[in-house]
Amino acid sequence: MTELSNTARVVKASPNVGAFIEGVDLSEDFSDQTLAVMRQALGDHGVIFFRDQTLSPERHIAMAERFGGVNINRFFAHVDGWPAIAEVRKEPEQKANIGGGWHTDHSYDQIPALGSILVARETPTIGGDTLFASMYAAYDTLSDGLKATLDGLKAVHSSRHVFGKAARYKDRNEDLNGRLGNEAAATQDAVHPVVIRHPISGRKALYVNPGFTLHFEGWTAEESQPLLDTLYAHAARQEFAYRFQWAPGSIAFWDNRATWHMALNDYQGERRVMHRITVEGEPIAA
Ligand code: SIN
Repeated sequence: MTELSNTARVVKASPNVGAFIEGVDLSEDFSDQTLAVMRQALGDHGVIFFRDQTLSPERHIAMAERFGGVNINRFFAHVDGWPAIAEVRKEPEQKANIGGGWHTDHSYDQIPALGSILVARETPTIGGDTLFASMYAAYDTLSDGLKATLDGLKAVHSSRHVFGKAARYKDRNEDLNGRLGNEAAATQDAVHPVVIRHPISGRKALYVNPGFTLHFEGWTAEESQPLLDTLYAHAARQEFAYRFQWAPGSIAFWDNRATWHMALNDYQGERRVMHRITVEGEPIAA
């Protein structure tokens, strides 16, 4: 058997988050050495980007499986004929988008998914970018006093208010029905340290997010909100973020344990179609 060579180059996208992987053709399998380079880049930079790839659904799944098991999404519609591939779609006449606020996927699971590989299939002529923010930078730049407080805290996360019967998007009359569903499956609650040690990089990362975190363990929601709001405003600082512009064939593979992300909804009247596969993770700890 021919040994697949490593030609992967890692080029930083911004000072704090993201890196482009160059020199890899994902339409073919890649070597263990290339896998190791990509995995380390994911841990170090929080999200890795690829340009101009031709990735069939089969190759998309095969790529994900090199990093871990595939997590079948409970709440997203899937791509026709491909239950393992979630569809992130917005039609020209639809108003709401999926993932339009800062969040970290799967923090409501006790073992959160490692991350997702999002492939752009159809993109608007302009807009529809995705923002990524570094939770390493967010943690590193806190004061020593606040770090000491947070190091001893845990937080409660849930899927109920986002995907359940009483999901907030329903109160807001957002037209997400048909794109999100299976609300009876939104039963997940999880408790995680507020600061985790990243399983790949060993670095400390802030692990609360506006999408799924409810409150600190042992604190009421009212007591928690002012400190959560302070942390959210800090973590969303522009210098910790990178704005990725998509084109068909672009790919972003983000690590949920090191980043937040947010999809911009500024392309009304145009279609945007993305295919997402989520890779299972491992237990996380302080
Ligand atoms: C998501 O949160 O998975 C959606 C990201 C995107 O559509 O850019």
